[in-house]
Amino acid sequence: MQSVNIAVFASGSGSNFENLARYFSHSEKGRVVLLVCNKPDAYALERACNLGIDSAVVTKAELQQPEKVMPLLRRYGVGFVVLAGFLPLIPDYMIDAFPQRMVNIHPSLLPKYGGKGMWGHHVHEAVKAAGETETGMTVHWVTPQCDGGDIIAQRRVALSPEDTVDDIAQKEHVLEMEHFPKIIEELLDGLG
Ligand code: GAR
Repeated sequence: MQSVNIAVFASGSGSNFENLARYFSHSEKGRVVLLVCNKPDAYALERACNLGIDSAVVTKAELQQPEKVMPLLRRYGVGFVVLAGFLPLIPDYMIDAFPQRMVNIHPSLLPKYGGKGMWGHHVHEAVKAAGETETGMTVHWVTPQCDGGDIIAQRRVALSPEDTVDDIAQKEHVLEMEHFPKIIEELLDGLG
């Protein structure tokens, strides 16, 4: 099977983007060829620059314009899209263009702590407030519903009552770094 060109969409720090880019630089299954970012000041853009990976800023408004986004993705031969901390909702035309080829990572065990407003620290704060004994990460297909697509994989970690919100975030982040690239690689393997 030919190596698949991956575009990562991110809005903030981009630690997943960097982790994926590094992982796939040693994989035969795929390669991260492009970072798409909706915020011109996101640290993810600096990471792309340091890694020598091309990036593009596509604002939330521009995302709604297929004539802006699709030629960009075509130019890089993108065959798989990864949303990693990308906050705007994905428009229908993109969902139609990447059937079973666009995934999102969410920092909780969906369907718990998903939906509008549930991102980053808000998720971990809610987990702490509820006194959960475990948390985790979810990888799911992207649909028009926020965090609503079918679940592909989940990984979990135990929490203790002493864990602060930062501890919870840290434990969950370790799962993302360890498992997200491998889960995507398996999906690429299954594309055939
Ligand atoms: C990640 O923890 C990801 O799971 C989360 O944002 C973080 C992005 O970090 N995504 C969401 O909350 C989506 N609702 P990163 O920019 O360092 O990869």
